[in-house]
Amino acid sequence: MKILYIGSAKSKELFEEALGNTAQLTTEKNADACLIEVNDTATLFKLPKQFGVPTYFYITVKDKKIIEVLKDFKISGIFFPPLKPDEVRRKFTIKKPEKSAKTGGNEFDTLKAKIIAKAENIPPLPALARELVRLTRSDKTQMKDFINKIKRDQGLSSRIIKLVNSPFYGLRQDVASIDRATVLLGLNTVKNLALAISTSQFYDKNFSMYKSNGTAMWEHSFLVARLCESLGKACSLDEDSLYLAGLMHDIGKTVLVDFLVKEVDSTEDEIKLLGTDHTSVGELVLSKWSVVQVITEAVRGHHSNSPDKFKAVLYFANIFAHEEDYSEAAEDASMALELPHSEIMEIVRPLLEAVDDKEEGEDEASEETT
Ligand SMILES: [Fe+2]
Ligand SMILES: [Fe+2]
Repeated sequence: MKILYIGSAKSKELFEEALGNTAQLTTEKNADACLIEVNDTATLFKLPKQFGVPTYFYITVKDKKIIEVLKDFKISGIFFPPLKPDEVRRKFTIKKPEKSAKTGGNEFDTLKAKIIAKAENIPPLPALARELVRLTRSDKTQMKDFINKIKRDQGLSSRIIKLVNSPFYGLRQDVASIDRATVLLGLNTVKNLALAISTSQFYDKNFSMYKSNGTAMWEHSFLVARLCESLGKACSLDEDSLYLAGLMHDIGKTVLVDFLVKEVDSTEDEIKLLGTDHTSVGELVLSKWSVVQVITEAVRGHHSNSPDKFKAVLYFANIFAHEEDYSEAAEDASMALELPHSEIMEIVRPLLEAVDDKEEGEDEASEETT
Protein backbone atom coordinates (compact mmCIF):
# COMPACT_ATOMS: atom_id res chain seq x y z
CA MET A 1 0.00 0.00 0.00
CA LYS A 2 1.29 3.45 -0.95
CA ILE A 3 0.47 6.47 1.15
CA LEU A 4 0.97 10.01 -0.09
CA TYR A 5 2.63 11.80 2.82
CA ILE A 6 2.52 15.56 3.37
CA GLY A 7 4.31 16.76 6.49
CA SER A 8 7.57 17.09 8.35
CA ALA A 9 10.46 14.64 7.99
CA LYS A 10 10.39 13.99 11.73
CA SER A 11 6.78 12.82 11.75
CA LYS A 12 7.38 10.85 8.55
CA GLU A 13 10.05 8.87 10.36
CA LEU A 14 7.61 8.10 13.20
CA PHE A 15 4.99 6.77 10.79
CA GLU A 16 7.57 4.75 8.85
CA GLU A 17 8.72 3.16 12.06
CA ALA A 18 5.11 2.33 13.03
CA LEU A 19 4.17 0.99 9.61
CA GLY A 20 7.27 -1.16 9.06
CA ASN A 21 6.81 -2.83 5.70
CA THR A 22 2.99 -2.87 5.75
CA ALA A 23 2.86 0.39 3.77
CA GLN A 24 5.15 2.85 2.10
CA LEU A 25 5.11 6.63 2.46
CA THR A 26 5.61 8.39 -0.85
CA THR A 27 5.35 11.74 -2.60
CA GLU A 28 3.61 10.19 -5.59
CA LYS A 29 0.14 11.55 -6.30
CA ASN A 30 -1.43 8.21 -7.35
CA ALA A 31 -1.26 6.62 -3.89
CA ASP A 32 -3.86 4.38 -2.17
CA ALA A 33 -4.27 6.72 0.79
CA CYS A 34 -3.12 10.09 2.01
CA LEU A 35 -1.60 11.21 5.31
CA ILE A 36 -1.32 14.89 6.18
CA GLU A 37 0.39 16.42 9.17
CA VAL A 38 -1.60 19.34 10.60
CA ASN A 39 0.18 21.86 12.84
CA ASP A 40 -2.28 24.75 12.63
CA THR A 41 -5.66 25.79 11.24
CA ALA A 42 -3.90 27.56 8.34
CA THR A 43 -2.81 24.15 6.96
CA LEU A 44 -6.42 22.98 7.03
CA PHE A 45 -7.71 26.00 5.13
CA LYS A 46 -5.36 25.18 2.26
CA LEU A 47 -6.77 21.65 1.87
CA PRO A 48 -9.78 20.43 -0.09
CA LYS A 49 -12.71 19.29 2.10
CA GLN A 50 -13.02 15.94 0.36
CA PHE A 51 -10.35 13.57 -0.98
CA GLY A 52 -10.33 10.94 -3.70
CA VAL A 53 -8.58 8.37 -1.50
CA PRO A 54 -8.95 7.56 2.22
CA THR A 55 -7.24 10.46 3.97
CA TYR A 56 -5.86 10.66 7.50
CA PHE A 57 -4.72 13.67 9.50
CA TYR A 58 -1.90 13.67 12.01
CA ILE A 59 -2.74 16.53 14.39
CA THR A 60 0.29 17.60 16.37
CA VAL A 61 -1.11 20.57 18.29
CA LYS A 62 -3.86 20.88 20.86
CA ASP A 63 -6.18 23.52 19.52
CA LYS A 64 -9.95 23.56 19.88
CA LYS A 65 -10.23 25.60 16.67
CA ILE A 66 -8.70 22.74 14.68
CA ILE A 67 -11.33 20.34 15.96
CA GLU A 68 -14.05 22.83 15.00
CA VAL A 69 -12.67 23.22 11.47
CA LEU A 70 -12.29 19.42 11.13
CA LYS A 71 -16.05 19.00 11.24
CA ASP A 72 -16.23 20.11 7.59
CA PHE A 73 -13.77 17.52 6.30
CA LYS A 74 -14.54 14.09 4.89
CA ILE A 75 -11.61 12.12 6.25
CA SER A 76 -11.05 8.52 7.28
CA GLY A 77 -9.18 8.97 10.52
CA ILE A 78 -7.13 11.14 12.84
CA PHE A 79 -3.88 10.43 14.67
CA PHE A 80 -2.58 12.29 17.69
CA PRO A 81 0.83 12.07 19.33
CA PRO A 82 2.05 9.88 20.87
CA LEU A 83 1.51 7.57 17.90
CA LYS A 84 0.45 4.04 18.70
CA PRO A 85 2.12 1.74 16.14
CA ASP A 86 -0.70 -0.85 16.38
CA GLU A 87 -3.33 1.75 15.65
CA VAL A 88 -1.34 3.16 12.71
CA ARG A 89 -0.89 -0.28 11.17
CA ARG A 90 -4.52 -1.23 11.75
CA LYS A 91 -5.83 1.87 10.04
CA PHE A 92 -3.60 1.56 7.02
CA THR A 93 -4.07 -2.14 6.39
CA ILE A 94 -7.82 -1.72 5.90
CA LYS A 95 -7.85 -0.88 2.22
CA LYS A 96 -11.54 -0.45 1.60
CA PRO A 97 -13.78 0.92 4.30
CA GLU A 98 -16.81 -1.28 4.91
CA LYS A 99 -20.04 0.15 3.61
CA SER A 100 -22.80 0.34 6.16
CA ALA A 101 -26.42 0.06 5.09
CA LYS A 102 -27.20 3.72 5.49
CA THR A 103 -23.94 5.58 5.35
CA GLY A 104 -21.08 5.19 2.91
CA GLY A 105 -17.98 3.75 4.56
CA ASN A 106 -16.06 6.97 4.30
CA GLU A 107 -18.76 9.02 5.91
CA PHE A 108 -19.00 6.46 8.70
CA ASP A 109 -15.25 6.56 9.29
CA THR A 110 -15.33 10.35 9.30
CA LEU A 111 -17.96 10.34 12.02
CA LYS A 112 -15.92 7.91 14.09
CA ALA A 113 -12.82 10.03 13.56
CA LYS A 114 -14.70 13.09 14.78
CA ILE A 115 -15.88 11.24 17.88
CA ILE A 116 -12.34 10.14 18.62
CA ALA A 117 -11.09 13.69 18.10
CA LYS A 118 -13.73 14.96 20.51
CA ALA A 119 -12.82 12.31 23.10
CA GLU A 120 -9.12 13.10 22.73
CA ASN A 121 -9.88 16.77 23.28
CA ILE A 122 -12.20 16.40 26.24
CA PRO A 123 -11.41 19.10 28.83
CA PRO A 124 -8.93 17.91 31.47
CA LEU A 125 -10.15 16.61 34.79
CA PRO A 126 -10.51 19.52 37.22
CA ALA A 127 -7.30 20.04 39.23
CA LEU A 128 -9.10 19.00 42.39
CA ALA A 129 -10.25 15.69 40.90
CA ARG A 130 -6.73 15.04 39.59
CA GLU A 131 -5.37 15.49 43.09
CA LEU A 132 -8.06 13.21 44.50
CA VAL A 133 -7.35 10.46 41.99
CA ARG A 134 -3.72 10.42 43.12
CA LEU A 135 -4.50 10.55 46.84
CA THR A 136 -4.35 7.24 48.66
CA ARG A 137 -6.08 6.42 51.89
CA SER A 138 -2.80 5.43 53.55
CA ASP A 139 -1.47 8.96 53.20
CA LYS A 140 -3.22 10.37 56.26
CA THR A 141 -1.35 13.71 56.44
CA GLN A 142 -2.07 14.53 52.81
CA MET A 143 -5.63 13.41 53.29
CA LYS A 144 -6.07 15.79 56.25
CA ASP A 145 -4.54 18.67 54.26
CA PHE A 146 -6.99 17.86 51.57
CA ILE A 147 -9.99 17.94 53.89
CA ASN A 148 -8.85 21.40 55.01
CA LYS A 149 -8.80 22.46 51.38
CA ILE A 150 -12.35 21.17 50.91
CA LYS A 151 -13.48 23.14 53.94
CA ARG A 152 -12.21 26.33 52.36
CA ASP A 153 -14.26 25.64 49.21
CA GLN A 154 -17.76 26.63 50.28
CA GLY A 155 -19.54 25.39 47.16
CA LEU A 156 -17.95 21.96 47.34
CA SER A 157 -18.42 21.69 51.11
CA SER A 158 -22.12 22.43 50.92
CA ARG A 159 -22.63 19.90 48.12
CA ILE A 160 -20.80 17.24 50.14
CA ILE A 161 -22.92 17.99 53.20
CA LYS A 162 -26.10 17.78 51.12
CA LEU A 163 -25.06 14.37 49.78
CA VAL A 164 -24.09 13.14 53.24
CA ASN A 165 -27.57 14.05 54.47
CA SER A 166 -29.28 12.29 51.55
CA PRO A 167 -30.72 8.76 52.00
CA PHE A 168 -27.56 7.50 50.23
CA TYR A 169 -25.78 7.51 53.58
CA GLY A 170 -28.69 6.68 55.87
CA LEU A 171 -27.31 8.69 58.76
CA ARG A 172 -29.72 9.17 61.64
CA GLN A 173 -28.52 12.66 62.43
CA ASP A 174 -28.21 15.80 60.38
CA VAL A 175 -24.64 16.60 59.44
CA ALA A 176 -23.84 20.30 59.33
CA SER A 177 -20.09 20.40 58.72
CA ILE A 178 -17.29 18.64 56.86
CA ASP A 179 -15.60 17.90 60.19
CA ARG A 180 -18.69 16.09 61.43
CA ALA A 181 -18.99 14.21 58.13
CA THR A 182 -15.36 13.15 58.46
CA VAL A 183 -15.95 11.86 61.99
CA LEU A 184 -19.07 9.91 60.98
CA LEU A 185 -17.99 8.59 57.59
CA GLY A 186 -14.20 8.72 57.63
CA LEU A 187 -11.65 10.70 55.64
CA ASN A 188 -11.77 8.39 52.67
CA THR A 189 -15.53 8.61 52.16
CA VAL A 190 -15.39 12.39 52.26
CA LYS A 191 -12.56 12.28 49.73
CA ASN A 192 -14.61 10.01 47.47
CA LEU A 193 -17.64 12.28 47.76
CA ALA A 194 -15.51 15.25 46.72
CA LEU A 195 -14.27 13.23 43.74
CA ALA A 196 -17.82 12.38 42.66
CA ILE A 197 -18.91 16.00 42.93
CA SER A 198 -15.89 17.38 41.10
CA THR A 199 -16.65 15.18 38.08
CA SER A 200 -20.37 16.03 37.94
CA GLN A 201 -19.74 18.93 35.52
CA PHE A 202 -19.15 16.47 32.68
CA TYR A 203 -22.79 15.41 32.94
CA ASP A 204 -24.03 18.94 32.61
CA LYS A 205 -25.67 18.42 29.20
CA ASN A 206 -28.79 17.14 27.47
CA PHE A 207 -29.04 13.33 27.56
CA SER A 208 -32.43 12.94 25.89
CA MET A 209 -30.87 10.61 23.27
CA TYR A 210 -30.11 8.28 26.18
CA LYS A 211 -33.67 8.83 27.46
CA SER A 212 -32.18 10.40 30.56
CA ASN A 213 -30.89 13.67 31.99
CA GLY A 214 -27.58 14.88 33.41
CA THR A 215 -28.59 14.54 37.06
CA ALA A 216 -29.87 10.98 36.60
CA MET A 217 -26.74 10.03 34.63
CA TRP A 218 -24.46 11.37 37.36
CA GLU A 219 -26.52 9.76 40.13
CA HIS A 220 -26.35 6.44 38.31
CA SER A 221 -22.54 6.74 38.09
CA PHE A 222 -22.34 7.64 41.78
CA LEU A 223 -24.49 4.63 42.70
CA VAL A 224 -22.36 2.29 40.57
CA ALA A 225 -19.26 3.79 42.24
CA ARG A 226 -20.63 3.06 45.71
CA LEU A 227 -21.70 -0.47 44.73
CA CYS A 228 -18.25 -1.09 43.27
CA GLU A 229 -16.58 0.20 46.42
CA SER A 230 -18.60 -2.06 48.74
CA LEU A 231 -18.40 -5.15 46.52
CA GLY A 232 -14.67 -4.51 45.99
CA LYS A 233 -14.10 -4.35 49.73
CA ALA A 234 -15.94 -7.65 50.22
CA CYS A 235 -13.74 -9.24 47.53
CA SER A 236 -10.54 -7.73 49.04
CA LEU A 237 -9.91 -5.78 45.86
CA ASP A 238 -8.69 -2.19 45.59
CA GLU A 239 -11.97 -0.51 46.53
CA ASP A 240 -10.78 3.03 45.74
CA SER A 241 -9.88 2.09 42.17
CA LEU A 242 -13.19 0.32 41.83
CA TYR A 243 -15.00 3.39 43.13
CA LEU A 244 -13.28 5.48 40.45
CA ALA A 245 -14.08 2.88 37.78
CA GLY A 246 -17.74 3.00 38.81
CA LEU A 247 -17.81 6.77 38.81
CA MET A 248 -16.34 6.93 35.32
CA HIS A 249 -17.85 3.84 33.68
CA ASP A 250 -20.30 5.73 31.46
CA ILE A 251 -18.14 8.82 30.82
CA GLY A 252 -18.04 7.84 27.11
CA LYS A 253 -21.73 8.74 26.89
CA THR A 254 -20.87 12.38 27.63
CA VAL A 255 -18.92 12.42 24.35
CA LEU A 256 -21.23 10.26 22.21
CA VAL A 257 -24.35 12.19 23.17
CA ASP A 258 -23.12 15.14 21.08
CA PHE A 259 -23.24 12.96 17.95
CA LEU A 260 -26.46 11.04 18.47
CA VAL A 261 -29.43 12.08 16.39
CA LYS A 262 -31.63 9.14 17.41
CA GLU A 263 -32.46 7.62 20.77
CA VAL A 264 -30.33 4.63 21.77
CA ASP A 265 -30.92 1.78 24.20
CA SER A 266 -27.74 -0.25 23.98
CA THR A 267 -24.10 -0.32 22.94
CA GLU A 268 -25.27 -2.16 19.79
CA ASP A 269 -27.45 0.85 18.92
CA GLU A 270 -24.48 3.16 19.43
CA ILE A 271 -22.29 1.05 17.15
CA LYS A 272 -24.98 0.93 14.47
CA LEU A 273 -25.33 4.69 14.47
CA LEU A 274 -21.82 5.88 15.23
CA GLY A 275 -19.42 3.02 14.57
CA THR A 276 -18.25 2.99 18.19
CA ASP A 277 -19.77 2.72 21.66
CA HIS A 278 -19.48 4.46 25.03
CA THR A 279 -17.21 1.77 26.49
CA SER A 280 -14.49 2.32 23.85
CA VAL A 281 -14.85 6.09 24.00
CA GLY A 282 -14.80 5.94 27.80
CA GLU A 283 -11.53 4.04 27.72
CA LEU A 284 -10.09 6.69 25.43
CA VAL A 285 -11.18 9.57 27.66
CA LEU A 286 -9.78 7.91 30.77
CA SER A 287 -6.44 7.15 29.12
CA LYS A 288 -6.36 10.81 28.11
CA TRP A 289 -6.83 11.66 31.80
CA SER A 290 -3.97 9.29 32.67
CA VAL A 291 -6.20 7.03 34.73
CA VAL A 292 -4.46 3.71 35.46
CA GLN A 293 -4.90 0.87 32.97
CA VAL A 294 -6.73 -1.51 35.30
CA ILE A 295 -9.54 1.07 35.48
CA THR A 296 -9.59 1.99 31.78
CA GLU A 297 -9.77 -1.71 30.88
CA ALA A 298 -12.62 -2.37 33.31
CA VAL A 299 -14.53 0.59 31.84
CA ARG A 300 -13.93 -0.79 28.35
CA GLY A 301 -15.41 -4.12 29.38
CA HIS A 302 -18.22 -3.01 31.69
CA HIS A 303 -20.99 -4.44 29.51
CA SER A 304 -19.61 -7.97 29.46
CA ASN A 305 -18.90 -10.38 32.27
CA SER A 306 -15.28 -11.29 32.82
CA PRO A 307 -13.34 -13.95 34.73
CA ASP A 308 -11.26 -11.07 36.11
CA LYS A 309 -12.86 -10.14 39.46
CA PHE A 310 -12.06 -6.42 39.25
CA LYS A 311 -13.86 -6.20 35.91
CA ALA A 312 -16.68 -8.45 37.13
CA VAL A 313 -17.36 -6.14 40.10
CA LEU A 314 -17.94 -3.20 37.75
CA TYR A 315 -20.03 -5.34 35.41
CA PHE A 316 -22.35 -6.49 38.20
CA ALA A 317 -22.48 -3.10 39.95
CA ASN A 318 -23.78 -1.62 36.70
CA ILE A 319 -26.37 -4.40 36.38
CA PHE A 320 -27.55 -3.93 39.97
CA ALA A 321 -27.93 -0.20 39.37
CA HIS A 322 -29.97 -0.77 36.20
CA GLU A 323 -32.16 -3.78 37.06
CA GLU A 324 -35.35 -3.49 39.07
CA ASP A 325 -35.15 -7.11 40.18
CA TYR A 326 -31.56 -7.73 41.13
CA SER A 327 -31.85 -11.02 43.01
CA GLU A 328 -31.15 -13.06 39.86
CA ALA A 329 -28.11 -10.94 39.05
CA ALA A 330 -27.00 -11.47 42.64
CA GLU A 331 -26.95 -15.25 41.97
CA ASP A 332 -24.61 -14.76 39.02
CA ALA A 333 -22.51 -12.25 40.96
CA SER A 334 -22.26 -14.70 43.84
CA MET A 335 -20.70 -17.29 41.52
CA ALA A 336 -18.42 -14.85 39.71
CA LEU A 337 -17.19 -13.03 42.81
CA GLU A 338 -17.14 -16.11 45.02
CA LEU A 339 -19.21 -14.43 47.72
CA PRO A 340 -22.31 -15.88 49.41
CA HIS A 341 -25.57 -14.74 47.81
CA SER A 342 -26.75 -13.38 51.18
CA GLU A 343 -23.62 -11.23 51.53
CA ILE A 344 -24.13 -9.73 48.09
CA MET A 345 -27.76 -8.94 48.92
CA GLU A 346 -26.69 -7.35 52.21
CA ILE A 347 -24.25 -5.10 50.37
CA VAL A 348 -26.47 -4.19 47.44
CA ARG A 349 -29.88 -3.85 49.09
CA PRO A 350 -29.24 -0.81 51.36
CA LEU A 351 -27.58 1.12 48.54
CA LEU A 352 -30.39 0.44 46.09
CA GLU A 353 -33.07 1.09 48.69
CA ALA A 354 -31.47 4.43 49.47
CA VAL A 355 -31.99 5.38 45.81
CA ASP A 356 -35.62 4.22 45.93
CA ASP A 357 -36.17 6.26 49.11
CA LYS A 358 -34.60 9.26 47.48
CA GLU A 359 -36.78 8.90 44.38
CA GLU A 360 -39.94 8.49 46.46
CA GLY A 361 -38.99 11.59 48.44
CA GLU A 362 -38.55 13.53 45.23
CA ASP A 363 -41.89 12.30 43.85
CA GLU A 364 -43.66 13.44 47.02
CA ALA A 365 -41.92 16.79 46.84
CA SER A 366 -42.93 17.28 43.22
CA GLU A 367 -46.53 16.25 43.98
CA GLU A 368 -46.62 18.87 46.69
CA THR A 369 -45.51 21.55 44.30
CA THR A 370 -47.96 20.62 41.52
FE1 LIG B 1 -22.55 1.61 30.29
FE1 LIG C 1 -24.10 2.34 33.42
